[in-house]
Parts: sequence; structure tokens; C-alpha cells
Amino acid sequence: MDMYSDFYEKRRNSLWKRYWRDNDGSDILKPNGFNEYPCEVYNQLMKPIDRDGSVLDLGCGNGLFLKHIMKYSGYKITPYGIDFIEESIRQARELIHPEYPENFRVGNIAYMDLEENKYDYVYFDPYSVHSSHLEPVLNKIIKACKPGGKIIFYTYRDVLIVLKIIGILKLKLIRWVGDLLPREMRNRLERIDHPDVSIAVYRKCGLDS
Ligand SMILES: C[S@@+](CC[C@H](N)C(=O)[O-])C[C@H]1O[C@@H](n2cnc3c(N)ncnc32)[C@H](O)[C@@H]1O
Repeated sequence: MDMYSDFYEKRRNSLWKRYWRDNDGSDILKPNGFNEYPCEVYNQLMKPIDRDGSVLDLGCGNGLFLKHIMKYSGYKITPYGIDFIEESIRQARELIHPEYPENFRVGNIAYMDLEENKYDYVYFDPYSVHSSHLEPVLNKIIKACKPGGKIIFYTYRDVLIVLKIIGILKLKLIRWVGDLLPREMRNRLERIDHPDVSIAVYRKCGLDS
């Protein structure tokens, strides 16, 4: 428990209500925040995948996006996921990825331990952690990514709209997901724009630690 427990508890509870309050487990879209299968959005997010490898989705919901990559990327993908909603991880283990139950764990991204040099691709929405936790979490993610691997930052449109408004109030310009990241990282990002999702790709080089 620390001073941020309340922040994460409130956020987890409000997401749980959206995803799980009226869901007996038969709806596999809701635990990821969707009402319809987001084929186009998932295809955009999948664009940086260009070889076989292990993919970690931080805030994986029930693992549906990982399943999409496994099915449609054309590469051999090993999925890993972390989410702080237990029901979503149970659905990932039992329904969506029954071949990989041990690769999915319940946890808060802000406090997770990640094995170093393990993943070829890591997906992360910077909004999922409190701004005070962003820097330490980014350091862990960079360490967890293999040299030559990619970190794919993304934020969905509804969140970006809220952040733009908060940004205006704080006199900070937030136009895309890259604006949420440290300046030194921003210069190295490849930008992918889509009306429903903002994406930034960071390739880890051997010197990053
Ligand atoms: C919009 S859903 C995205 C699910 C999936 N990645 C996709 O694109 O379909 C965001 C997920 O992040 C999880 N999440 C948000 N903040 C988190 C945190 N601090 N720790 C763990 N999971 C978090 C939520 O529970 C939710 O399942």
C-alpha cells in the first residue's frame, strides 16, 4: 500500500464496472472496452510486428489483441499479458489462451517485476499508470525488451480526448501518444496515426538499458 493505492483502486473499480458488472463471461469484447470486434484498430496496432517473437501486452484485458496478432500477423507469436482485473485474466487463461495459462498474470503495471531481455515486443498505454510512475515503469519496460525489439506505445481515442482537455488546462500540448512520453524518447519514435488509436513505436538499440 502507498499513496497511489487509492488512485489505482478507483480506476480498477470503474473499469471493472464497465467490463464486468453485466458480463457473465459470455461477452469477450467488453473486457477490452469494445462493443464490436475492433478489427481495424487491432490491425493498426499489429503493424510493427515484423518477425516471430514474444509479445507482452501490459493491460492485456482478456488477451484478445494478442490472439489477433497470433492469428493474423503471419508470424509465430508467443503471448504474455498482465492486467489488474482478475476476471479478465481468468478469461485469458481459460478461454482465449488455454495453451498459455502461465503466461497471463494478475498485477498492477505500476508495480510489476519484469524479466530482463525477454520480450521482442511490448505494448504499453502510458495512461495506465500514474504520471509519477511513468519513468520507473518505462525503465523496466526498456530493460524487459530485447535489443532490436520494439516498444509500442498506444492510447485509444477516448482517452486521448480526455488527456487533450487536461493538457489544455495545464497548458501542455497533447496531440498524440508521443506527447505523454519523455522528450528524449520522443525524438526516436515512429508515429502511426489512426482516428481511433494513436501509436508510437520505439526500437530498442543495444546501448539502451
Ligand atoms: C482498453 S483495455 C485494452 C485491452 C487490450 N490491450 C486490447 O487492446 O484489447 C485496457 C486494459 O488495461 C488494464 N489496466 C489499466 N491500468 C492498469 C494497471 N495499472 N495495471 C494493470 N492493468 C491495467 C485494464 O484493466 C484493461 O483491461
